Amino acid sequence: MTTNQELPWVPLLVPDMPSPQELLPWLERMHAVRHYSNFGPLVQELEKAFAQQFALESEQLTTVANATQGLELVLQALDLPTGSRILLPAFTFVATATAVVRAGHQPVLADVDAHTWMLTPEIARAACECMRIDAVLPVATFGMPHDMRAWQQFERDTGLAVVIDAAAAYGSQWLQGAEGTLVFSLHTTKSLPAGEGGLVVSTRPGLGAKVRQLSNFGINLDPGAAMPVGALADLGSNAKMSEYHAAIGLVSLQKWEQHAHKRRTLQADLIREICLASGHSLAWQAQGPAGPQMAPTLLCVQLPDAAARTTVERACQEARIMTRRWYQPLLQHMDVLQQQCLSLDTPNAVQLAQTLLGLPFFWGITLEQRQRICDVVARASAAACSLK
Ligand SMILES: Cc1ncc(COP(=O)(O)O)c(C=O)c1O
Repeated sequence: MTTNQELPWVPLLVPDMPSPQELLPWLERMHAVRHYSNFGPLVQELEKAFAQQFALESEQLTTVANATQGLELVLQALDLPTGSRILLPAFTFVATATAVVRAGHQPVLADVDAHTWMLTPEIARAACECMRIDAVLPVATFGMPHDMRAWQQFERDTGLAVVIDAAAAYGSQWLQGAEGTLVFSLHTTKSLPAGEGGLVVSTRPGLGAKVRQLSNFGINLDPGAAMPVGALADLGSNAKMSEYHAAIGLVSLQKWEQHAHKRRTLQADLIREICLASGHSLAWQAQGPAGPQMAPTLLCVQLPDAAARTTVERACQEARIMTRRWYQPLLQHMDVLQQQCLSLDTPNAVQLAQTLLGLPFFWGITLEQRQRICDVVARASAAACSLK
């Protein structure tokens, strides 16, 4: 008889990266021209492909080393006074807030919608009535896209800049014909993996070009500018994407459609299987007003209460199924951030932080692993509910 101790763990995530064989032709191209970074041919090719997808001019977007740097540089490029208050959801990854603090501003933590788990324009409007807010940084939570027309209207009504942290939403979050600024992550766990990388897309005049300059130390590379090429125009950073990462991004882009379809199907199947097994007692992230996620990378279940979450978590641990409390604790409960942030009332975020659990989700999950997850989640959630 197999004991649990002998079972191999079901991992939480397995990156969906191109193979060395697929990368080789791109790396050979890179090596042939001896161009490894500094906006080389592969970065240019990747940016051209992105510009076509977003139907924008090439200077309206730029690649960066990662989304965290992308957010920080966008905030710097907005030229807000130091100490500006930036509204963001309490329920997000730490980088949303650390980018704000590192850009010299103060995060103001807002609640999220109970069903989509996102900061909405309505929540932002209510926050603006409570206190001075200088810009808004909504998050495309777990890749769920925002309604850009609604945020454009918000920008017009309030005069505040909105930047969407769309780290996990490549392929799901589009401009939808509206004005806007989006920051994507191309990290290995995201929907378009380049190992590390980011993409800033903005219709705001001059913002893409400014972020590009800031990503290259702040050095002017524009022969048409008032100052000479090579002169330091701004206090920038080094946040350029390398040619190695662009090569991975280009291969991932070729396979994106097929991979996205596989992951959409897999997520829908897993949710259906777990719901069936558990008698529909569980909740999942609701689709937002801008449609579904096109390439999901995570699977999060919401249990009825904190006790049920702990029961399911322990049962998974015993059955050697990895789980993760994504985006928890909330930002206002992290010692390092607590001092830096202002926090509004966030009842929905608090509820999520007590009830949400990330389950394994990756392409290549086996039938045995799926079955194990379904059985354990169903059994543990039924046991937790029967105790009430
Ligand atoms: C909401 C959010 N913002 C920002 C980031 C940071 O992205 P990167 O790893 O590309 O810096 C992440 C990464 O998971 C994220 O989930």
